[in-house]
Amino acid sequence: MHLREATPADIPLLRHWDRQPHVAASGVEDWDWAEMLSERPVWREMLIAEEDGRPVGFLQIIDPEAEDTRYWGDCGPGLRAIDIWIGELSDTGRGLGTQMMQATFARCFADNTVRAVLIDPLATNTAAHRFYRRLGFKLVGPRRFDDDDCLVFELTRAAWRQGD
Ligand SMILES: CC(C)(COP(=O)(O)OP(=O)(O)OC[C@H]1O[C@@H](n2cnc3c(N)ncnc32)[C@H](O)[C@@H]1OP(=O)(O)O)[C@@H](O)C(=O)NCCC(=O)NCCS
Repeated sequence: MHLREATPADIPLLRHWDRQPHVAASGVEDWDWAEMLSERPVWREMLIAEEDGRPVGFLQIIDPEAEDTRYWGDCGPGLRAIDIWIGELSDTGRGLGTQMMQATFARCFADNTVRAVLIDPLATNTAAHRFYRRLGFKLVGPRRFDDDDCLVFELTRAAWRQGD
């Protein structure tokens, strides 16, 4: 599993993945890839996961305190928030998401100021809840983001170390 920066050359594939029902059902908005991939704000990383050189998934890591839309509100410092999906349904359930998340934790917690990683699946996305709990995330609670009812989960640095 290798994570690399997403580039404008990935846009056709990212749009194809957006249209996959399992991705769309997870609440991924119609992201403006051309705009997002042309900006390189310090508070966001957009990454493609590759298995043996083949792109299999997408990952976004943001610093929610610095993110420009203030999606997470006044959350304070020391956090990272993640969005993740596996592009093709046939690639789900093969352990790729687990590998992507483990690589992500190492990336996030390499910064000593980061104390926890957040994730906000839709309240209806019970398969994702199970996935995050198995990775050591704990439920923070329900939260409404724009029009979406979500559950916020958190993985603290200490919980990550314990699971190592
Ligand atoms: C959630 C997701 C990233 C997990 O990645 P993955 O590679 O399928 O996960 P793994 O193979 O490492 O682990 C499998 C676990 O993932 C969970 N899972 C979530 N969605 C799944 C799906 N569509 N198919 C299979 N497993 C899924 C299950 O809990 C499964 O555990 P189980 O064996 O107890 O059922 C991936 O399934 C996905 O992209 N789903 C659609 C988009 C999404 O929901 N993203 C998260 C939004 S917050």
